[in-house]
Amino acid sequence: MSERRKFIKQSLLGSAFLIPGISSASTQDKNKTPPLIGEMPLILSTWNHGLPANVAAMAKLDTGGSILDAVEAGVRDTELDLENLSVGLQGLPDREGITTLDASIMTGDGNCGSVAFVRQIKHPISLARRVMENTPHVMLAGEGARQFAIAEGFPLEEEVLSPKAAIEYAKWKETSQYKPIINIENHDTIGMIGIDANGNMAGSCTTSGLAYKMHGRVGDSPIIGAGLFVDNEVGAATATGLGETIIKICGSFLIVELMRQGRTPQEACEEAVRRLISKNKNIDDIQAGFLAINKEGLTGAFAVHPGFNFAKATVKENVLIDSNSHFKP
Ligand code: GLY
Repeated sequence: MSERRKFIKQSLLGSAFLIPGISSASTQDKNKTPPLIGEMPLILSTWNHGLPANVAAMAKLDTGGSILDAVEAGVRDTELDLENLSVGLQGLPDREGITTLDASIMTGDGNCGSVAFVRQIKHPISLARRVMENTPHVMLAGEGARQFAIAEGFPLEEEVLSPKAAIEYAKWKETSQYKPIINIENHDTIGMIGIDANGNMAGSCTTSGLAYKMHGRVGDSPIIGAGLFVDNEVGAATATGLGETIIKICGSFLIVELMRQGRTPQEACEEAVRRLISKNKNIDDIQAGFLAINKEGLTGAFAVHPGFNFAKATVKENVLIDSNSHFKP
């Protein structure tokens, strides 16, 4: 474990920063007037791996980077994390034993880029940014994305499973049963959304997707409007969890549009979860969670099941927060 990671972990373990339960519109004391303006700059990102990613994003802003630079730098940190089995080339493979990656990036003025089903690229988020900036397209997939990466000077990594992923894949092959375990095999994806001190927003999302997925499967993370959506006029949202369920409701776009109609980020996330649940008969094995920020810097988070957490960073602190859920813990 790097010194930086140790510091984050240790400071969280003994700190008042660990906040059990989210401060949400639905759980706040209704008699208290909620703050109308959040603190900015502000970065939100999914799961425990959001903590070090937020540190990298804030460091980028600190050294003069844009909010776009920050959300790219933040999730690049996760893409390199060898302990992480759901993001980057060390992630768990598909049924054929091949690790394929999805990523997207978006700015508040509506520009966006993504890559899907891409192999051998260490930083799919940076490849997604190149698609946005250097092509007339929004999305490149598979072999085409890999060819574009080569043309852009990205090195191709050797196609071998990480030691941890290889052990897990060997165990899985003993039964070859496909039944994702919520918050473990669905404990996927880093989605990051941020707003700078001037109200400019951007977001990023990157994942190796569901463990043991069918070869060729693409999740919500590279689908603009599903895994990520950003609009400076309203706000930003990102998603994590079972991608198929998130794609079916255009989850992140839905949340931004609900905020456009006047919902708070928290209300919008809760409505997206309600919508997702209404479209699925059995949600026992389905985890999905959403994060949102509005242009005032207010935040929201909600999930189907307990267990979804996220990291929230301002210039003062970087804290891990347990999200509320449809099934309240
Ligand atoms: N949410 C990531 C995926 O389903 O691939």
